[in-house]
Formats: sequence, structure tokens, C-alpha cells
Amino acid sequence: MIGNKVLVVGSWAKAQITIENLRIRNLNIRIFAYMSIKNPAIISLVNGYKIGDFNTVNDVVGYAKKQDIDLVIVTTAEPLSVGLVDALEKKKIKTFGPRKQAARLETNKAFTRKLMKKYEIDTIPRFRVFNNVDDAVQYAKDLNWNVAVKPVGLTEGLGVKVFGDQLKTKEDISRYIRQIFSERGDSKVLMEEKLTGEEFTIQFFVNGNYIIPTPAVQDFKKLLVGEKGPNTASMGSYSDSRYLLPFMTQKNYDDALDIVRKTLAAFHSETGEICQGFLYGQFMITKDGIKLIEYNFRPGDPEWMNTLSVLKNNILEVIHRLLNGEKMFLQFEDKATVCKYIVPRSYPKKLYEVLDVSFEEWMIKKEGVSLYYSCGIDDQGKLNIGSERGIAFIAKGKTIFDANEKVEQAISLVKGNFYHRGDIGTKELIESRIDHVKELRQ
Ligand code: AMP
Ligand code: GLY
Repeated sequence: MIGNKVLVVGSWAKAQITIENLRIRNLNIRIFAYMSIKNPAIISLVNGYKIGDFNTVNDVVGYAKKQDIDLVIVTTAEPLSVGLVDALEKKKIKTFGPRKQAARLETNKAFTRKLMKKYEIDTIPRFRVFNNVDDAVQYAKDLNWNVAVKPVGLTEGLGVKVFGDQLKTKEDISRYIRQIFSERGDSKVLMEEKLTGEEFTIQFFVNGNYIIPTPAVQDFKKLLVGEKGPNTASMGSYSDSRYLLPFMTQKNYDDALDIVRKTLAAFHSETGEICQGFLYGQFMITKDGIKLIEYNFRPGDPEWMNTLSVLKNNILEVIHRLLNGEKMFLQFEDKATVCKYIVPRSYPKKLYEVLDVSFEEWMIKKEGVSLYYSCGIDDQGKLNIGSERGIAFIAKGKTIFDANEKVEQAISLVKGNFYHRGDIGTKELIESRIDHVKELRQ
């Protein structure tokens, strides 16, 4: 068994719920956190913590050494993209997360698309990668402007813009391509055919070609009711009891698993390296079957809250068995979940804002709702969203609607100036998703 001193790297809600999970049936565990902000909830849960910069890999490694850590669990992309896992391994510190090469499945969207194309994993939109504005604009024109425009690297969920959503006209498309090269200073842009359909997420524990899947979750990235407004890092999510969503078939789920298995095998053939860590796949049900939208090599936020609030296993045990090459199934409570973020009214236009709210936590808990923080305490002692969002409210229920009612009831107890999406998890919304998929299948 892996020893009992664990370091969780990550500042936000998904790190918080990971830490909570690690305490399930493990009273002797000692948990440390490396965070980029002061998350008030995490501070109250851990045996020790350090605030630092995720890009300063040596500082994270130094902290792990100082605390004599047995296992490091990485829940956030930034340190993975700069080689944290490689650096920890060099110091013989056991880690659960992808090495820098494998993290490219998330950190380099062009790499992933090209890999899948080369290995004929024929479940992706048409795409091309460009290193100049004119050719990229010409490609958009060739696709009749029906495109998704993507900076190639990490964008914290805010960089992808799609025609008809964030980009209304062809001028918007050309302007955004130009902006990627000039303001963001990127050297490449990924241009994709715009797909239409219904999206879902599946998260996995991965070691080499072996994957342990978790239930599907649906994530809501748009700020406003009815999938309108700018993209956010996500406003909420739901999952159903068992593994599927109300609009999904078992075949949809199995097809998504097949895409992941093929991608991992392709990655191994291409690089000789293995993948390890929490893999997040975002998929779309389209009229032509399941397509891959993107991979992240970390848990999803808020999806990880849906998944861990019903997971009965202790993650430390899962990782231990996975790293030992043992096969296993996870056990989940037979419950639906709904998660919603409360955010400042100026989000996502303005980040680093104070979340000016007050509530009695015991009253929220009495409603059967748990809170997870994607915000920190600033120098004035106020809750500040930093580069993130706000507070996630999550409930379990017999159905998605039951869970939603609990979350809404809890949010109604919050005083102050905030916004949340009322529609996620309502009957109307779910029915519209079911109808949408029926239309696609016709
Ligand atoms: P990503 O950061 O790649 O997950 O993209 C953010 C969001 O943009 C996704 O959740 C999708 O809703 C949308 N998106 C990304 N790629 C496409 C595409 N090729 N067609 C349509 N929508 C897309
Ligand atoms: N929910 C989207 C993400 O974690 O990237």
C-alpha cells in the first residue's frame, strides 16, 4: 500500500473534494496541499499547506520532499504542462498524474487532433492548424464560416470560440483569429469544423492502456439560461443515477470509451510513453455518432464534484491498485447529482473580483447540500474568485430534479450579490436535451 502522507496539488473545488475523499475510511492519512491561493475550505481540511506558484516546479518538489510525501496527486493542468510529474519522479516521489509528454493531450490541442487523425480515430471534426492569419481565415471561408476557433494551448476554458455562439459574424471570426496571433501572442491556431449535438463528459483513472471509467456528467459552460452568453469555466453540471445521462444510450457511453482506449494506444505507439492520471474526455452526440471535443488530463470542474460525491471508494486505494496493475470496478451510490456555481455578477468579464455573499453553512448542510470553494481569501480577508469562479453547491437526489430542488433551496438561503443558473437540472431543460438528441437520431 502507498504510505499515508499525500500531497494534493490544486487550489480549487476539485482539490477540496479530492481531499475529503482521501479521508474516507482512512483515519491515519495525513494530507498536505500545494495551492496558488488560500482556499478557506482546503485550509481547514489539511494537515499542512503551502501557497506558491504552480509554474515553479522546484518549489512543489521541495515542499513534497520537506513533508516526506508518499504520493502526490495533481488536480490542475498548469503544473502538469511544465513537467511537475517528471520532476517529482526524478526525485523518486510517487505521483499520480501525466508526465509533460502525456499532458500534451490537454495542453496541445493540435497535437491531439493530429494524433487522432494519424491513427485513424475517425471521431473528430475536420480541422487544420495554421501559423498565419490569412490561411486560417481562408479555411474558415472554405468551411462556410461554420467553425470553432481554438488557441492551441491552455486557455482555462475561456479561449475556444464558436461561430453562432461567441462569434456572430465572419468579421468576428477574422478578428478573433488575428487576436490570437497578436494579443495572445500564439504562433498557431486550430480551426475546426463546428459540430452540433449534445455534449457529455466522462472522467477516467488511467494507467497505460488500462482505464477505469466513471459516470457521464453534463457540464454547462455558458453563462446564461438557454445556453446563451459568453463561455465560462462552467456554471454547473449534473449526473444521473448509474452511468448514463437521460439522453444517452449505453452505446453512446461505450463508443466514448472506445475513443479513449484508441487514443491511449495511439499515444503509446507514437511516443513510447505511457499515460497516467485523471483523464477527462468531453464528447458530443452528433447525427454521425460520438465525436471527441477535447481531452483534459486532470479532473473536470465541476464534473469531479458530481463524480466524487457519489463515489464510495477511497481514491488512494483506487490509485494504489491501479498503479499495481490490479483490475477494479468503482462503486457509486445509486443517486443523481446537481452542482451549481454562485459567481459575482461581473463574472466572467471581470476576474479577481470579491464574491460578496453571506450564509449560514449549517443551514445549507441541513438541506443536504455541500459546498466547494473555487475562490480564496484575499489580502483584505475577503472571498475573492481570483482567476476562478465562486462557490459550488452540490446535492444528491433520487433524480436530477430532486437534487436540483435541494441546490436551489440552499442557494435561496444565500444573501448578497451573486448570480447562478437556475435552469440546470430542471425538468424543462432535461426534456429539451432528450428532444434534441431524438432530433439528431432522426
Ligand atoms: P474546449 O475548450 O475545446 O472544450 O471547447 C469549449 C467549448 O466549445 C466546448 O464545450 C464546446 O461546447 C465548444 N466546442 C469546441 N469545439 C467545438 C466544435 N468543433 N464544434 C462545436 N463546438 C465546439
Ligand atoms: N468543466 C470543464 C473543465 O473542467 O474543463
